[in-house]
Amino acid sequence: MPCEGCPTFMIAATYDAGSWCKTWASVEYEGHETRPRMRSICNRLPQKARRLGISETHFLNMPHCAAWLYDWFMRMKPTATQTQDVAQDMVSRIGCGRLLDIGTGHGRLLFEIHRLNPTLELFGLDISPAMIAVAKKNLKDISSDLRQGRSEHTDYPDDFFDLVTCTGSLYLWDYPEEGLEEIFRILKPGRSAYLFEVYKDVDPDAFQSALRAHLRELDPIRRLLGPYALRKALRIAYRMDEYVAMIKSTSFVYSFTIEKIQLASVPMWLRIVLTKTLG
Ligand SMILES: C[S@@+](CC[C@H](N)C(=O)[O-])C[C@H]1O[C@@H](n2cnc3c(N)ncnc32)[C@H](O)[C@@H]1O
Repeated sequence: MPCEGCPTFMIAATYDAGSWCKTWASVEYEGHETRPRMRSICNRLPQKARRLGISETHFLNMPHCAAWLYDWFMRMKPTATQTQDVAQDMVSRIGCGRLLDIGTGHGRLLFEIHRLNPTLELFGLDISPAMIAVAKKNLKDISSDLRQGRSEHTDYPDDFFDLVTCTGSLYLWDYPEEGLEEIFRILKPGRSAYLFEVYKDVDPDAFQSALRAHLRELDPIRRLLGPYALRKALRIAYRMDEYVAMIKSTSFVYSFTIEKIQLASVPMWLRIVLTKTLG
């Protein structure tokens, strides 16, 4: 269990604020003693966020150094390859128009998409001002609309986007159903959102062997932090049936698919396709 001043704190902060918050809040969830300040924050959280052990407040307050560390950490080969895989997938589905990346973080997915198709109009949204600052730096030579904001309440017009994407963020949202309803509102009719999420009930053997293969390629620091970060993400993530139940409670109920896929040869991802059909 982490304690104040423990190296685990830095490791978790390097990964992302969500995991960091989970580190503390899970202590309360599991019935152990919690730091008083965290306990009072947790008590104010909505029920769902408490179950996940995170809150949007923590992303809002993410320090700039944590966002920079996250960007550095995610530059390792397996995650860069994951981003390239998702970018390839996205440009194969849209030739022109407006593309939004929700929970864009460091903005590297938008960068890759632009490299593959410079004609797309790119938009990025993230709740964390620190992450948006990093994304602006990474996309400084690329025309893009990067905004700080919440998935569940954006200021884009109705029927605005030709494609919405989101990688490794939905599982961190306080209000995932509301976020999905917002995606429904801002998508053009007939268009789709593509969400790439890790899921808790991943096949542990396949996951472990893929992880071992990747670890050999990493520098010592990332070799140490990588498995820790991944396991944390899997602990926080929903099970596949929970994602299905979540989507079924939204306007995408009759028009979604969910499949297990590999990104960078790691079999821990779901590709969730949500299509906006009317009537
Ligand atoms: C694990 S990072 C993923 C970043 C990037 N998509 C990637 O693949 O590396 C999750 C991101 O989601 C953002 N986020 C969390 N909750 C959000 C919300 N409700 N609305 C928008 N962004 C959110 C966080 O600030 C963080 O940048």
